[in-house]
Amino acid sequence: MNITIKSNLIFYYLFCLYLCFFDEPIEIHASSAVSVSRDTAALARSYQKLSLSQYSQGMKLIQLLKIKPGEKILDIGCGTGELTAYSAQLCAPRGIVVGIDPSPYRIDLARKKRIKYCSFQVASSDNLSAFPSNHFDVVYLNYVFHWIADKKSVLKEIFRILKPGGRLGITMGDKQQNSTVFAILMTSIKETMGKIPYGELVTPYYISKEQLLQLANQCGYSVDSLTVEENIHYLNSPTEVIEFFEASDFGNFLGGIPQQTKTKIIHKMKEKLAQISIPGRGIEMKYRTLIFVGHKPKNKSSPRPKLGFKNP
Ligand SMILES: C[S@@+](CC[C@H](N)C(=O)[O-])C[C@H]1O[C@@H](n2cnc3c(N)ncnc32)[C@H](O)[C@@H]1O
Repeated sequence: MNITIKSNLIFYYLFCLYLCFFDEPIEIHASSAVSVSRDTAALARSYQKLSLSQYSQGMKLIQLLKIKPGEKILDIGCGTGELTAYSAQLCAPRGIVVGIDPSPYRIDLARKKRIKYCSFQVASSDNLSAFPSNHFDVVYLNYVFHWIADKKSVLKEIFRILKPGGRLGITMGDKQQNSTVFAILMTSIKETMGKIPYGELVTPYYISKEQLLQLANQCGYSVDSLTVEENIHYLNSPTEVIEFFEASDFGNFLGGIPQQTKTKIIHKMKEKLAQISIPGRGIEMKYRTLIFVGHKPKNKSSPRPKLGFKNP
């Protein structure tokens, strides 16, 4: 074998050894799609502690939906049930709120609250066929819609299960985010990986206000209001910011990135976050939220579903 080929082979061999022993190859796992199977009991408990900002925004959505006593409500992606409990107070005593979430850990915590006029089920927006047509007065999703890939199918199914005149409420992250913490996240990924692997990694299925409006129209809804709000809340420390992301992303924060690379990104993030912490206040979390309220027009009823359903 000639000397150049031999030295090239040795170099290649040493390079592979380096990759095996000293660093992970930086590539995204095939499993980068959002998956609720990444959730854990600890993340669900952490969400319960850190979700005050989502809860406050959710209360505003519920007020816009004007829930009345006796109404039947569906809370899709109810998480640990705080907002479900709030809605239950408004539809009690003859009404009911059904809370569904695909994470058994979150449903477990919601059930443990023993909230009156609520029932909880482990279920996802992907399959609402168990619910009868023209059944609910109100359906809402608070900070859940940006986790859903096939938004059109879900909107159509919600249309089917809403009564004519029934209301739909959605709060979700806007596709366009404009915060220092988000910029820090992006820079930390870039510095560690050399590039942002792809947008879906950080903002999985976000859409714009215009896209949401178009989807709602295509699915037959009358739109009552659609606004964008910039919310600000503060978290105490860089560690709390990471905990917040991990918990509200139910394990999908930097999902699909190899653990060693993820640890490096988080380390960089914490260093940068410490620099923007305001004494006595903490770290500013700014988030652009789309707030949608619409309804199913009164003259439109839906066909019966294929599967049977026991009234909740
Ligand atoms: C940020 S949390 C919001 C929880 C709750 N709505 C609140 O306001 O606190 C997002 C929730 O969406 C749930 N989720 C994710 N994908 C979902 C889907 N396809 N259908 C229903 N819920 C989903 C997660 O398990 C998680 O509990």
